[in-house]
Amino acid sequence: FEPAEAEPLTIYLAAPRGFCAGVDRAIQIVELALAKYGAPVYVRHEIVHNRYVVENLRSKGAIFVEELDEIPDTEAPIVFSAHGVPKSVPEEASRRNMFHLDATCPLVTKVHVEAQRQFLSGNEVLLIGHEGHPEVVGTMGQLPEGAVTLIETVEDARTFTPRDPEMLACTTQTTLSVDDTKEILEALKARFPALRVPTKDDICYATTNRQEAVKSIAPKCDRMIVVGSPNSSNSQRLVEVALRAGCPQAVLLQGVQEIDWDMFDGIGSLGITAGASAPEVLVDEIIDAFRARFRADVETVTTAQENISFKLPRPLRENAAS
Ligand code: F3S
Repeated sequence: FEPAEAEPLTIYLAAPRGFCAGVDRAIQIVELALAKYGAPVYVRHEIVHNRYVVENLRSKGAIFVEELDEIPDTEAPIVFSAHGVPKSVPEEASRRNMFHLDATCPLVTKVHVEAQRQFLSGNEVLLIGHEGHPEVVGTMGQLPEGAVTLIETVEDARTFTPRDPEMLACTTQTTLSVDDTKEILEALKARFPALRVPTKDDICYATTNRQEAVKSIAPKCDRMIVVGSPNSSNSQRLVEVALRAGCPQAVLLQGVQEIDWDMFDGIGSLGITAGASAPEVLVDEIIDAFRARFRADVETVTTAQENISFKLPRPLRENAAS
């Protein structure tokens, strides 16, 4: 059905968008654990920051908690979320003989390992990231309290006082804005030439690719929709990237029910992307809603190919193959 008076609309669909390999693996871990061990499966923190995903797993028997002390003594598996956890969490789980499965994204684990390596080499460790985000809490929690200094802004980079400017190393959260992080790193490097940094930064391939794709379509879009949850760091960054790259208005939506149609009145072009934790079905529903109101043409704009996948934790590997 196409309303006779419908206005034409070009929808530019950013690619890559949506699920990354770390999110895909984390969701699979919960699903396979439910299949292998039965319900309930406890999950510490939202497995990934997406309400739809969480509700779906909850309906299959996953129980979400924020801390291990909310879980009774149990033989049921406990899954740690994709964002990673402080060291104290697996330690506590082992102390309580809990069977735990770690869904931390391997690219976050890589940052954990690097932070520890730098710390053991005697460096003061800086972490560029957002205070309170579970990934930041997890990375800081790899080292003793007070060992990691969080740098959130260029201002922080300008005012931070090191213990010894010759013994400094820097890591980053994986889901930051590529451009902001570059600026912060440059400010740090200008002050501390001896700073040890990852080759570029620790921002993951998925974050980088989704930002690139949005940048390429933003200048020709009257509006941009980013599908994702408000607590999803990489989704929030996509909204900022769209605005900076020249799209006049961009909005983060959890799903089709949140569309405020006034915002799309009289537009000729619309960009759509999705954060790394947002399932494609939510994008499809939004496209369908626009097709019902506009004479919409959908053009996918692909700026990178992704073919990354990560191994599952050992106890679940054979189940995945069968
Ligand atoms: Fe991992 Fe990056 Fe996704 S760190 S969970 S691949 S957004």
